[in-house]
Amino acid sequence: MQDSNNKTPVVSIVMGSDSDLDKMRETAEILDLFEVPYEITISSAHRSPAATIAYAESASDQGIEVIIAGAGRAAHLAGVIAAHTILPVIGVPIDGGPLNGVDALYATVQMPPGIPVATMAIGSGGAKNAGILAVQILALKSVYLRTKLETYKRELADSVAEKAKRLSEVGYRNYAQS
Ligand code: RP5
Repeated sequence: MQDSNNKTPVVSIVMGSDSDLDKMRETAEILDLFEVPYEITISSAHRSPAATIAYAESASDQGIEVIIAGAGRAAHLAGVIAAHTILPVIGVPIDGGPLNGVDALYATVQMPPGIPVATMAIGSGGAKNAGILAVQILALKSVYLRTKLETYKRELADSVAEKAKRLSEVGYRNYAQS
Protein backbone atom coordinates (compact mmCIF):
# COMPACT_ATOMS: atom_id res chain seq x y z
CA MET A 1 0.00 0.00 0.00
CA GLN A 2 1.32 3.42 -0.93
CA ASP A 3 0.71 6.41 1.32
CA SER A 4 0.72 9.68 -0.64
CA ASN A 5 2.57 11.61 2.05
CA ASN A 6 3.19 11.60 5.75
CA LYS A 7 -0.26 12.82 6.81
CA THR A 8 -2.94 10.30 7.80
CA PRO A 9 -4.86 9.35 4.63
CA VAL A 10 -8.53 10.37 4.57
CA VAL A 11 -9.28 8.99 1.09
CA SER A 12 -8.59 5.46 -0.04
CA ILE A 13 -8.13 4.55 -3.70
CA VAL A 14 -8.58 0.83 -4.24
CA MET A 15 -8.06 -0.83 -7.62
CA GLY A 16 -8.93 -4.34 -8.72
CA SER A 17 -5.61 -4.74 -10.51
CA ASP A 18 -2.43 -2.86 -11.33
CA SER A 19 -3.78 -2.66 -14.89
CA ASP A 20 -6.30 -0.09 -13.56
CA LEU A 21 -3.57 2.32 -12.43
CA ASP A 22 -3.31 3.99 -15.80
CA LYS A 23 -6.87 5.35 -15.30
CA MET A 24 -6.92 5.69 -11.52
CA ARG A 25 -3.84 7.89 -11.70
CA GLU A 26 -6.32 10.67 -12.58
CA THR A 27 -7.94 10.31 -9.16
CA ALA A 28 -4.57 10.54 -7.43
CA GLU A 29 -3.65 13.65 -9.42
CA ILE A 30 -6.80 15.44 -8.28
CA LEU A 31 -6.18 14.52 -4.65
CA ASP A 32 -2.59 15.77 -5.02
CA LEU A 33 -3.91 19.02 -6.51
CA PHE A 34 -6.20 19.57 -3.54
CA GLU A 35 -3.54 18.36 -1.09
CA VAL A 36 -5.81 15.67 0.27
CA PRO A 37 -3.85 12.82 1.88
CA TYR A 38 -4.74 9.45 0.42
CA GLU A 39 -3.58 5.89 0.24
CA ILE A 40 -3.68 3.73 -2.83
CA THR A 41 -3.79 -0.05 -2.94
CA ILE A 42 -4.83 -3.06 -5.00
CA SER A 43 -7.44 -5.51 -3.80
CA SER A 44 -9.78 -7.66 -5.83
CA ALA A 45 -13.38 -8.56 -5.06
CA HIS A 46 -12.86 -11.81 -6.94
CA ARG A 47 -9.19 -12.71 -6.63
CA SER A 48 -8.64 -11.62 -3.01
CA PRO A 49 -12.16 -11.36 -1.55
CA ALA A 50 -11.18 -11.91 2.10
CA ALA A 51 -8.53 -9.16 1.99
CA THR A 52 -10.98 -6.80 0.27
CA ILE A 53 -13.60 -7.32 2.98
CA ALA A 54 -11.03 -6.93 5.77
CA TYR A 55 -9.80 -3.68 4.18
CA ALA A 56 -13.34 -2.28 3.85
CA GLU A 57 -14.22 -3.22 7.43
CA SER A 58 -11.14 -1.52 8.89
CA ALA A 59 -11.01 1.60 6.69
CA SER A 60 -13.10 3.81 8.96
CA ASP A 61 -11.04 2.92 12.04
CA GLN A 62 -7.90 3.84 10.07
CA GLY A 63 -9.23 7.39 9.55
CA ILE A 64 -10.47 6.95 5.98
CA GLU A 65 -13.52 9.13 5.18
CA VAL A 66 -14.18 8.30 1.52
CA ILE A 67 -13.33 5.17 -0.47
CA ILE A 68 -12.86 5.28 -4.23
CA ALA A 69 -12.91 1.89 -5.95
CA GLY A 70 -11.90 1.43 -9.59
CA ALA A 71 -12.36 -1.90 -11.33
CA GLY A 72 -13.06 -3.29 -14.76
CA ARG A 73 -14.96 -6.18 -16.34
CA ALA A 74 -17.44 -7.79 -13.86
CA ALA A 75 -16.61 -4.98 -11.45
CA HIS A 76 -17.87 -5.91 -8.01
CA LEU A 77 -15.13 -4.15 -6.07
CA ALA A 78 -17.01 -0.94 -5.18
CA GLY A 79 -20.16 -2.88 -4.30
CA VAL A 80 -18.39 -5.38 -2.06
CA ILE A 81 -16.57 -2.58 -0.28
CA ALA A 82 -19.85 -0.65 0.15
CA ALA A 83 -21.40 -3.78 1.65
CA HIS A 84 -18.74 -3.82 4.38
CA THR A 85 -18.51 -0.17 5.43
CA ILE A 86 -20.76 2.80 6.13
CA LEU A 87 -18.25 5.18 4.52
CA PRO A 88 -19.33 6.76 1.21
CA VAL A 89 -18.02 4.65 -1.69
CA ILE A 90 -17.38 6.10 -5.13
CA GLY A 91 -17.09 3.60 -7.97
CA VAL A 92 -15.12 4.03 -11.17
CA PRO A 93 -15.90 1.58 -13.98
CA ILE A 94 -12.64 0.92 -15.80
CA ASP A 95 -12.65 0.52 -19.57
CA GLY A 96 -10.83 -2.50 -20.91
CA GLY A 97 -11.67 -5.97 -22.08
CA PRO A 98 -14.02 -6.80 -24.93
CA LEU A 99 -16.91 -4.66 -23.64
CA ASN A 100 -14.84 -1.50 -23.10
CA GLY A 101 -16.15 -0.78 -19.60
CA VAL A 102 -19.88 -1.03 -20.26
CA ASP A 103 -19.80 -4.28 -18.28
CA ALA A 104 -18.01 -2.52 -15.41
CA LEU A 105 -20.45 0.40 -15.56
CA TYR A 106 -23.48 -1.86 -15.20
CA ALA A 107 -21.84 -3.94 -12.48
CA THR A 108 -20.90 -0.82 -10.50
CA VAL A 109 -24.03 1.27 -10.96
CA GLN A 110 -26.73 -1.36 -10.53
CA MET A 111 -26.47 -1.74 -6.77
CA PRO A 112 -29.48 -3.11 -4.92
CA PRO A 113 -31.46 -0.64 -2.78
CA GLY A 114 -29.74 -0.18 0.58
CA ILE A 115 -26.12 -0.36 -0.58
CA PRO A 116 -25.32 2.71 -2.71
CA VAL A 117 -22.21 3.25 -4.80
CA ALA A 118 -21.77 6.73 -6.30
CA THR A 119 -20.89 5.60 -9.80
CA MET A 120 -18.78 7.77 -12.07
CA ALA A 121 -18.40 7.73 -15.85
CA ILE A 122 -16.32 5.00 -17.49
CA GLY A 123 -12.55 5.43 -17.54
CA SER A 124 -10.18 8.29 -16.87
CA GLY A 125 -12.88 11.00 -16.91
CA GLY A 126 -14.76 9.09 -14.23
CA ALA A 127 -11.54 8.58 -12.27
CA LYS A 128 -10.92 12.32 -12.31
CA ASN A 129 -14.48 13.06 -11.21
CA ALA A 130 -14.16 10.51 -8.41
CA GLY A 131 -11.33 12.58 -6.98
CA ILE A 132 -13.33 15.79 -7.28
CA LEU A 133 -16.41 14.23 -5.68
CA ALA A 134 -14.29 12.96 -2.79
CA VAL A 135 -12.93 16.48 -2.30
CA GLN A 136 -16.48 17.86 -2.38
CA ILE A 137 -17.52 15.41 0.35
CA LEU A 138 -14.53 16.39 2.50
CA ALA A 139 -15.23 20.09 1.79
CA LEU A 140 -18.48 19.83 3.74
CA LYS A 141 -16.34 20.27 6.84
CA SER A 142 -13.36 22.17 5.38
CA VAL A 143 -13.45 25.84 4.47
CA TYR A 144 -9.98 25.41 2.97
CA LEU A 145 -11.22 22.76 0.51
CA ARG A 146 -14.36 24.77 -0.28
CA THR A 147 -12.25 27.77 -1.26
CA LYS A 148 -9.99 25.58 -3.40
CA LEU A 149 -13.03 24.02 -5.12
CA GLU A 150 -14.44 27.45 -5.91
CA THR A 151 -11.10 28.45 -7.46
CA TYR A 152 -11.01 25.17 -9.41
CA LYS A 153 -14.49 25.82 -10.87
CA ARG A 154 -13.61 29.41 -11.71
CA GLU A 155 -10.49 28.23 -13.56
CA LEU A 156 -12.58 25.70 -15.50
CA ALA A 157 -14.94 28.46 -16.60
CA ASP A 158 -11.98 30.67 -17.53
CA SER A 159 -10.48 27.87 -19.64
CA VAL A 160 -13.76 27.51 -21.58
CA ALA A 161 -13.88 31.26 -22.18
CA GLU A 162 -10.27 31.12 -23.36
CA LYS A 163 -11.13 28.34 -25.84
CA ALA A 164 -14.04 30.38 -27.20
CA LYS A 165 -11.73 33.37 -27.57
CA ARG A 166 -9.19 31.28 -29.51
CA LEU A 167 -12.00 30.16 -31.87
CA SER A 168 -12.85 33.74 -32.70
CA GLU A 169 -9.14 34.56 -33.12
CA VAL A 170 -8.90 31.99 -35.94
CA GLY A 171 -11.87 33.52 -37.71
CA TYR A 172 -14.91 31.71 -36.35
CA ARG A 173 -17.76 33.97 -35.28
CA ASN A 174 -18.84 32.86 -31.80
CA TYR A 175 -21.97 33.30 -29.76
CA ALA A 176 -20.47 36.10 -27.67
CA GLN A 177 -19.99 38.20 -30.81
CA SER A 178 -23.47 37.70 -32.28
C1 RP5 B 1 -10.71 -6.44 -12.80
O1 RP5 B 1 -10.32 -7.14 -13.91
C2 RP5 B 1 -9.64 -5.40 -12.58
O2 RP5 B 1 -10.16 -4.30 -11.92
C3 RP5 B 1 -9.19 -5.07 -13.97
O3 RP5 B 1 -9.87 -3.92 -14.49
C4 RP5 B 1 -9.62 -6.30 -14.77
C5 RP5 B 1 -8.47 -7.04 -15.41
O4 RP5 B 1 -7.50 -7.34 -14.44
P1 RP5 B 1 -6.08 -7.91 -14.91
O5 RP5 B 1 -6.33 -9.22 -15.61
O6 RP5 B 1 -5.45 -6.90 -15.81
O7 RP5 B 1 -5.28 -8.10 -13.62
O8 RP5 B 1 -10.87 -7.22 -11.68
